[in-house]
Amino acid sequence: MVSDSPLHISILYGSYRSKRVGIRAALFAQSLLQKRCKCTLVDAKAYELPMLDKMYKEYKAGEAPKSMQQLHDILSDSDGYVVVSGEYNHSLPPGLKNLLDHFQSEYIFKPVGIMTYSVGAYGGVRAAVHVRAVLGELGMASISSMYAVPKIASTLDENGGASESKQEERFERFADELLWYAKALKAAREEGTPF
Ligand SMILES: Cc1cc2nc3c(=O)[nH]c(=O)nc-3n(C[C@H](O)[C@H](O)[C@H](O)COP(=O)(O)O)c2cc1C
Repeated sequence: MVSDSPLHISILYGSYRSKRVGIRAALFAQSLLQKRCKCTLVDAKAYELPMLDKMYKEYKAGEAPKSMQQLHDILSDSDGYVVVSGEYNHSLPPGLKNLLDHFQSEYIFKPVGIMTYSVGAYGGVRAAVHVRAVLGELGMASISSMYAVPKIASTLDENGGASESKQEERFERFADELLWYAKALKAAREEGTPF
């Protein structure tokens, strides 16, 4: 019996820079996904998540800091994720890696779409290769499609609005694949997981 609760996708973003621009990509994804499913934007900076000391699972029940408990609840309830990554020296930002590293069982057997961006022409695609390896280790199933945003400062405005409609069309195709997997894997998880 497959539950009929709406699919829940969380968008994970982890830049802590005061002049960060990647929040535009996260807002863009949120604006489109929330028309199709329950969608939560997880902005690590807004939760003031500190550098990793103990993972969530290392705290006794009820003893994790409040923000970590809130993040655990959101990530556990999610049926899939969009990971929004900038490119820092061809890899992922430390704040995003830190967010990912705090959790583990929350992610397993769930799909993830990788969205990257940069202020330059390459759209963060070199970071995407590293991001996929990390997500695989965490037990997420990374979908084939990736969504890259080159020249983010002119492609997306401060509210995540796109300068051209083709950005939205391309994202909808990316979301089609993610939501297909989210639905399929939700049903499969409800049948049971191998561990
Ligand atoms: C430490 C650091 C390293 C960077 N390395 C790269 C890089 O390897 N390739 C690239 O295209 N942009 C690079 N950039 C530029 C970022 O793409 C740009 O600053 C972007 O806005 C960062 O995302 P954020 O604003 O969400 O933090 C780097 C920026 C920083 C701060």
